[in-house]
Amino acid sequence: MSVNEGPTPSVWVTRCSRLLRPSSTVLDLACGSGRHAHYLASRGHDVTALDKSPEALSKISSSIGIHTYQFDLEVGAWPFSERKFDAIVVTNYLYRPIIQNIVNTLSPSGILIYETFMVGNERFGRPSNPDFLLRPNELIDETHEKLQILLYEAGRVSDPKPSLIQRICAVSGDADYSDITI
Ligand SMILES: C[S@@+](CC[C@H](N)C(=O)[O-])C[C@H]1O[C@@H](n2cnc3c(N)ncnc32)[C@H](O)[C@@H]1O
Repeated sequence: MSVNEGPTPSVWVTRCSRLLRPSSTVLDLACGSGRHAHYLASRGHDVTALDKSPEALSKISSSIGIHTYQFDLEVGAWPFSERKFDAIVVTNYLYRPIIQNIVNTLSPSGILIYETFMVGNERFGRPSNPDFLLRPNELIDETHEKLQILLYEAGRVSDPKPSLIQRICAVSGDADYSDITI
């Protein structure tokens, strides 16, 4: 398993999701068993939870406020070219070819909450494949042209296990900072 994985939502997601407007549409990408989908739906948001694993989705398919979507993000075209979300959450998943699709799928003032492992994590365990590890500043490099970065952290965490991670919270378009309480 991976950083913050399990029934408890990531502290980054709980912190950043306070920025969401009530009843936001949220995409939980590569949602796994849905710890964030559950958390966000419990806060009144309208969650689309996507994963390639039917087993993972079966654990949340009957949950109120969650629409499940079985889809393999690494095969075929980006599935949301006609759709926008008020927020997109990605944790413990990296597939570089779709990062710009994710950015472009945010509605105006939409919020990206992204947290995953970075290079150096191989010293602590898996993932150790560089394809799954962010390079230094990579979340900033991938987002700063189209999004305004509100929060960013990179470094070692100890809970639930020692890992190196990078995490960002960024908002699309010309956000009014007076609307944002950090
Ligand atoms: C490490 S888990 C993270 C789950 C969740 N985001 C969390 O942090 O609790 C990675 C998830 O990505 C999903 N996944 C891996 N490759 C995928 C793909 N190509 N398309 C969609 N989901 C994928 C897996 O099925 C798994 O549920």
